[in-house]
Amino acid sequence: MNKDITNVDICCGLAWGDEGKGKIVSYLSKTKNYDFVCRWSGGNNAGHTIYVNHIKYKTHLIPSGIFYGIKSIIGPDCVINIKSFFEEIKYLEENGFDTNLIKVSRNAHIIEDTHIEEDKTKLKNKLGTTARGIAPCYRDKYARIGKRVVDYKDIFSNYIWDDNLYGNILCEGAQGFWLDINYGNYPYITSSITLPYNACSLGFAPQLINKIYGAVKIYDTRVGKDPEFPESLFDNDDFKIIGELGSEFGVSTGRKRKVNWLNMDKLILAINISGTTDLIVSKVDIIEKAKKFKVIYKEEVIEYQNINEMLSSIKKILISKCKLLKNINFSNNVDNISMD
Ligand code: IMP
Ligand code: MG
Repeated sequence: MNKDITNVDICCGLAWGDEGKGKIVSYLSKTKNYDFVCRWSGGNNAGHTIYVNHIKYKTHLIPSGIFYGIKSIIGPDCVINIKSFFEEIKYLEENGFDTNLIKVSRNAHIIEDTHIEEDKTKLKNKLGTTARGIAPCYRDKYARIGKRVVDYKDIFSNYIWDDNLYGNILCEGAQGFWLDINYGNYPYITSSITLPYNACSLGFAPQLINKIYGAVKIYDTRVGKDPEFPESLFDNDDFKIIGELGSEFGVSTGRKRKVNWLNMDKLILAINISGTTDLIVSKVDIIEKAKKFKVIYKEEVIEYQNINEMLSSIKKILISKCKLLKNINFSNNVDNISMD
């Protein structure tokens, strides 16, 4: 008989991706004894940066649990580029990680060369996609004409998941709340469900979810096209300074990210709809170095005198507007967090 699932935690992005989910998943993997770390959506459009013993590693598809010797599952609502999957396996093996722990769902869809070609020629310039074939692949999934892992069984051989989950589970989100197909600024979004409710596609009941760790930065960034983030943001001197101090370049594509003040109105919605219980606000040190203490709240820019005033105001607003939120942590460090 299968063992029971005892606990499910989720880590999700509350903005447009690039919120520092990687270091949260690292911290949780090190401290919480998970049996599985699982990805529930997206493909190699994501870029996860993980520091293990101060060495920087990057993955795009394989969940970060792999760096901590935890079984790493790519779920049925993910999409897989076969070539990039095996490149990632090779990279992990060369760096001494145990890739036998990596398993893929039979029902995950395959990103075909034709999907990538279509994304490159028709969508990349129009929508600012990562050109990894994500939208055409999900389209074919929903049109029920896609190819799945099960159709390439021999290639995946010992990487096929037996659909078994038990014990303590961490679900690792990709992208972020405002890139979600249902909530984001359509069509300037990705083609998957980036919110915690879709983590249940991995095969557990929603009642088993315990903590939801929401990741956000203390300023907003956006990579790719979006009329809410006009190109003119690149000309703003404050944002130039923050972008440089914060090294705001995409992990997957190397593109420069647009910067804006943290939009509290959007953050409140993202926390409440995602069900975030534990919030991690990253890159506080960057705003301190830049000495720019502003947020957008009730559609207006508010300025603070110093970092302490800014942090206590953010805390106060969120506590009054987000009933499910239990903990707020501010983080100063690229490769680690500490949590109450
Ligand atoms: P797609 O997912 O390649 O179709 O890209 C759709 C939009 O989502 C584009 O604006 C991308 O820049 C953005 N996007 C997709 N994945 C990520 C990510 O992991 N981080 C940040 N932005 C992303
Ligand atoms: Mg990322």
